[in-house]
Amino acid sequence: MSGSTIIPWVVGNWKMNPMQANAQQLIQDLKQHLLQEVVSEHDCHIGIAPISIALLSVKTQLDDASVKIATVAQDVSRMAGTGAYTGEVSADLLVDSGIQFVLIGHSERREIFGDNPQILSDKIHYALNANMTIIYCVGESLEQRESGQAEQIVLQQICDIASVVKAEQWHNIIIAYEPIWAIGTGKTASPDDAQTMHAKIREGLNQITPEGNRIAILYGGSVKAENAVELAACADINGALVGGASLNATSFHQIALAFAKQNK
Ligand code: 13P
Repeated sequence: MSGSTIIPWVVGNWKMNPMQANAQQLIQDLKQHLLQEVVSEHDCHIGIAPISIALLSVKTQLDDASVKIATVAQDVSRMAGTGAYTGEVSADLLVDSGIQFVLIGHSERREIFGDNPQILSDKIHYALNANMTIIYCVGESLEQRESGQAEQIVLQQICDIASVVKAEQWHNIIIAYEPIWAIGTGKTASPDDAQTMHAKIREGLNQITPEGNRIAILYGGSVKAENAVELAACADINGALVGGASLNATSFHQIALAFAKQNK
């Protein structure tokens, strides 16, 4: 069943980019674009996920934008509260600084930094306890897709968090489907393939929670201004998690507009 009543999210994941001066300019440019052509929060929510040391400066800069833009952390500690955990930032500390949104389970965290299901469950548990909204990323590798395992892998990643999320916390979960082979490669899943996987994810969510039809499922992987309209037209694609193209204010604005217009 389609989740078409869901307000989409378009979130820019800046990853380990850019230098400070460029970040400030990028936000200035985005704010300027939004002044010229508004993306109403009733049509599409927008978020920006900068590097951790820029979270507060970006948030300050975004706070006076003409439309509400969420500042999103790219990751969070698996430990809660405060304590002797060198290098870590807990969900409670993020919330204490006014950061309410966080990406968890990005494939780069899973593959390069060893974020396994247990670590991800801890992160999700504490982030939800701190009342954060989580963008939980799932997705299969090329090898897994080619061997016909894509759906099974992705649904397992959804099941991995089912026991951690309490019934009343599902409204704080957003899913991002990011096929690993489409990230940073210029290869986007075709709208049909993406929609097929999103429908499967929706089916899986509906088996776990009565909130299933209200959960936004974002697509990520080489989303650009050029393919955003087609992706936005798919019934179960409720937004985008954008890497490379979010580092260009014009492209990112166009992507947000594509989803906002589709939702009007
Ligand atoms: P690209 O848009 O650069 O492919 O990155 C996608 C991504 O990983 C967003 O989290």
